[in-house]
Amino acid sequence: MNTPSWLKDAVFYNIYPQSYYDTNGDGIGDLNGITEKLSYVQEMGFNAIWLNPFYDSPFRDAGYDVTDFYKVAPRYGTNEDFRRLCSEAKKRGIRVVIDLVAGHTSLECEWFQKSARPEKNEYTNRYIWTDSVWKKDGSKYISGYSDRDGCYQINFFYCQPSLNYGFYAPNPEKPWQLPTDHPDCIETKYELWRIMEFWIELGADGFRVDMASSVIKNDENSKGCIQFWQEFREKFDNKYPECVLISEWSYPEHAIEAGFHIDFLIHFNLAAYTSLFRYEKATNVNEAWLGNSYFRKEGNGDFQAFFKEYVDQYEKTKGKGYISIPSGNHDIPRLSFRRDDADMKAALAFVLTMPGIPFVYYGDEIAMRFQPDLPSKEGGYYRTGARTPMQWQSGKNFGFSKSNTPYLPVDPDFNTPTVENQQKDERSVLHFVKRLIALRHRHTALQADAAFTLCSENYPLIFERADEIENVVVAINPSDRTYSIDYDGADILLSENAYVESEKATLGSRGILIYRKQMNIAP
Ligand code: NOJ
Ligand code: CA
Repeated sequence: MNTPSWLKDAVFYNIYPQSYYDTNGDGIGDLNGITEKLSYVQEMGFNAIWLNPFYDSPFRDAGYDVTDFYKVAPRYGTNEDFRRLCSEAKKRGIRVVIDLVAGHTSLECEWFQKSARPEKNEYTNRYIWTDSVWKKDGSKYISGYSDRDGCYQINFFYCQPSLNYGFYAPNPEKPWQLPTDHPDCIETKYELWRIMEFWIELGADGFRVDMASSVIKNDENSKGCIQFWQEFREKFDNKYPECVLISEWSYPEHAIEAGFHIDFLIHFNLAAYTSLFRYEKATNVNEAWLGNSYFRKEGNGDFQAFFKEYVDQYEKTKGKGYISIPSGNHDIPRLSFRRDDADMKAALAFVLTMPGIPFVYYGDEIAMRFQPDLPSKEGGYYRTGARTPMQWQSGKNFGFSKSNTPYLPVDPDFNTPTVENQQKDERSVLHFVKRLIALRHRHTALQADAAFTLCSENYPLIFERADEIENVVVAINPSDRTYSIDYDGADILLSENAYVESEKATLGSRGILIYRKQMNIAP
């Protein structure tokens, strides 16, 4: 098995294309906008980006409902713009990873339109359809869409019909449950491979696979999905060894076995992520999502709630693949929701010093705010508040767009953080993130592969990262209390509201101390 060599020091930046930078004044961010901002991305120290979907789409789920997998949506530009983005990124040492919505399409996709016809054709089995409009096979079936006599299965919203890669354990009494080796399911898989090759040829460095654990149906222990992706990994190892496969699975043990190089630890499957940053999942986003999460100044969280699951997954995947703990993404309230800058620094210090691969969601590097009261846009619902335009500078739309009607409103508070005002302020979150990323690049002991040892129980958080060159200690106090800890450092690499006095260090409220340990050199 091969691991792309660049991953060990990769720091990803997750860009939501529609909200990053609009170059043609239509109010929607575009690929050329991302190309224009590559110098900023590079200056921050990010050496890889993950782009949310930019494929042609009716945008009923913000582009996770694809009409044409081979075409950039006109609102974002052209395939040629994508090629240029990749080549400009390459010049700056930035890898470009794109979203691959492997499991479903939009209703408008030509394949689905053909599949929905009553007469048999080459796309009849591209999707999963029961054999009668009166027969559903569970709650995820939609009836009455077309003259085809059957109900189609969905993966997410009603407008996202599941592609048919087959069922792991087909029920013989349900003839629509095809086995994974059915020629039509194999054809769907080949199509996916063609899509991947197409974008790699244009310059993509890999994929973040949407709902990676959903491709094979009736697959209780994910055995079918694991086999499915293993085939892709083998192809990658042979043909594209420097390209990366990243999964939205949130079960690293399964995802890494499936062949993914990186799996996100996020807000579903395991509770680990939410216990750090969000804690409770609730329908009322204003009231919840914070609870007793570990990273808040009340300091009443439980690190072990995260750690028990994390260390289990870490031990099972170590040396085979990476876990990513992202700062956030387009599906959850922003990290800054009900957190001040000091809280943000503590949380980001953690994200950027853990093993595996850090991902920073656009705007989190300036502590951009969550907008909880926005009306839903393009299937966003509460997620819309985490998807608002990037704030570049003071003035109209904070520099995002010249349009009078940006596709989502910008933060109404004129005091909101912007790149411009944070660049001017040495104490800003932006400068802090930049320093941390630079530190990670400089010290291999802070990078993906270096060992990790937890040295504390709960508050403050102390852990050690080590490789054959050095041992680095990371001490983070997410709480408002003050702690005194032992100090055995040779030199301090970063300190924020922390003081060292001979063999003791004081971590003030949200204090952070990163130092290189004294090495026991034999006399
Ligand atoms: C996960 C994506 O992150 C989310 O935004 C989307 O709505 C669903 N998958 C469906 O594709
Ligand atoms: Ca635009």
